[in-house]
Amino acid sequence: MSKRVVVVNGPNLNLLGTREPAIYGTRSLDDLNEVVRAKAGQLGFEVSLFQSNDEGAIIDFLHRHGPGSAGIVINPGALSHYSLALYDCLQALALPVVEVHLSNIHAREEFRSRSVTARAARGVITGLGFLGYELALDYLAKQ
Ligand code: DQA
Repeated sequence: MSKRVVVVNGPNLNLLGTREPAIYGTRSLDDLNEVVRAKAGQLGFEVSLFQSNDEGAIIDFLHRHGPGSAGIVINPGALSHYSLALYDCLQALALPVVEVHLSNIHAREEFRSRSVTARAARGVITGLGFLGYELALDYLAKQ
């Protein structure tokens, strides 16, 4: 099995820490990346980390770094709710994918409860904050 995983965060997740802290918490994207690197390290994974506000840049990154990896952990942000291009990309890569949301998308505005990208995922972890990423990595380690 490949010992590399891909972890991607989508639009506006660079604002973690200051963006709606009552929903997303006060820790930053750097803090999240630290948690992800530490967990990946414990599991013996190298990690290709990426955040972008640009749908095309995320897709290009996945095309480049997905193949040959053990799987993908992705928080697509709002792209979850409408990006068929990202859905197609995840389908095309045919890798284990876990979709993560920091907040519980089912407990918020109606439009958030539908994820078009989730259909390309083995599973979705929503509402567990940073822990969701760690649990997603645990899952990939067991594949
Ligand atoms: C999010 C939930 C999305 O609805 C929202 O657009 C985000 C973050 C989450 O992590 O809870 O940007 O994916």
